[in-house]
Amino acid sequence: MPFTPLPPAPVPGLPALAGLCTLHQATAPGLSVDATVARLKRLHAVARALHGVLIARVTDEPQYELKMLYSHHAWLLAEFVSAIRGRVGEMREPPLGLEDPPPAALQLALDEVAAAPDGTHLCAALYTVLLPTLDEACAALHADAHPLADAPTRHLLRHARLDLAEALTAGRQAAQALAAASEPSASWLEVLHLAMAAAHGLDGTASEAPPCPAARFSTTPRPYDPVPRRDARFSDPYNMGVNAEAFIYDTSFPPEPKLLMLAYKRLREIDVPEMMASIIVETTGKPWGYTRDMTRQLWDEARHAMMGEVLFADLGVDWPALVRVNFTWSLGLNTQITALERHAVLYFIEQGLMPRHGKRYEWEIAQAAGSPLAITFQDYDWADEVLHARIGKQWYVSAMPSQTEALRAGDRAWSRVLMDWTAWQRDGLTTHENWWPALYADACQRLGWTPDPRVAAFDTSYADQRADLKSVSHSG
Ligand SMILES: [Fe+2]
Ligand SMILES: [Fe+2]
Ligand SMILES: [Fe+2]
Repeated sequence: MPFTPLPPAPVPGLPALAGLCTLHQATAPGLSVDATVARLKRLHAVARALHGVLIARVTDEPQYELKMLYSHHAWLLAEFVSAIRGRVGEMREPPLGLEDPPPAALQLALDEVAAAPDGTHLCAALYTVLLPTLDEACAALHADAHPLADAPTRHLLRHARLDLAEALTAGRQAAQALAAASEPSASWLEVLHLAMAAAHGLDGTASEAPPCPAARFSTTPRPYDPVPRRDARFSDPYNMGVNAEAFIYDTSFPPEPKLLMLAYKRLREIDVPEMMASIIVETTGKPWGYTRDMTRQLWDEARHAMMGEVLFADLGVDWPALVRVNFTWSLGLNTQITALERHAVLYFIEQGLMPRHGKRYEWEIAQAAGSPLAITFQDYDWADEVLHARIGKQWYVSAMPSQTEALRAGDRAWSRVLMDWTAWQRDGLTTHENWWPALYADACQRLGWTPDPRVAAFDTSYADQRADLKSVSHSG
């Protein structure tokens, strides 16, 4: 039918249809609810699988930048997954069918990505094949959905595409940097394209479907490796020679050098995503909300680590040369106790950060030291930890008989984790060198601080901490 414009509105120039589109645009019919739900479910299956792939790599990916990138993008994908789940739930379902596996050919593409043998292949697959295709599918659904009838889906997709654009910019940069050192297999990337095509495209809208290619890497699924790995900047990962808490909580020390310890404590939080990834991977049977919240916390902890990196940069500290950031906590927890016990330890430690000897105190140190940057970081570190205590309550404490028992279980599990100071020394893994005096001397010299002999002589390690594990706040 030809479009007949209505008589003009009394006030000319006011936007029609709440600004969604023109009246003319709205006269074209859009997709049905069923067709939209079917496409959203494809996007959901892909985003959810790729979220899982990224989480599973956080622990054993040695490159610090990639650990951080995966933590970020896992969170963006978790938010996208949550948004789709919410929207599908509004569209005349249930049954929602969100847990149903995708078609076999699409599943093969996802399995192949999960089995990528290294970061080079993973980044090439994610950032040059899967996520660009996901973004195209979002764009296509946005174009096909009715702008008025299905404004909520279009809104969701528009916002998701902002995140995908950000992820793709950084991700492509990562893929390129890695490919410069060693090229990923082009024929394997082609397998990924072919597998998606064999599923009638990622969103199932292609009319033609070539035969599904054979599995390549996924013939041997890649098991999750709970042992954390670090790159060369973390040159002494068993070093427990400098007890940051002992220094920070000693009120007789001045605040300025405590900035160095705060930066160290923040950067050391890199071990929390390494540990939380293991909980998320190894815990099954939880609702999606659990994965979403745990992923948010994992990403927060990664941000805290990067705040430490930035604080060191602001102070001009060459941390790879002067600071020994260990991985003993994530290593111990990931390899010695169960996923539930790890969650218990995390909750126990984070509860310990709430009272006065916790996050508020660190923020006050930043204030006393007069560092606007440290004040900002500690402010948000503190706020995030309050959120984490809530997440712990919702997902860990609720699975325990009581709050008291939840805390006791965390205390017990934490005490069972063996931090074998002497064995690491005996086996030549570390000398537990006290790196503090050199770091402090360097800062005094560059920042013009007057060296304080008491501060320079600080020599408290974690060696004697065994008997008093309860009071150790760890990294927070
Ligand atoms: Fe936390
Ligand atoms: Fe933190
Ligand atoms: Fe933390």
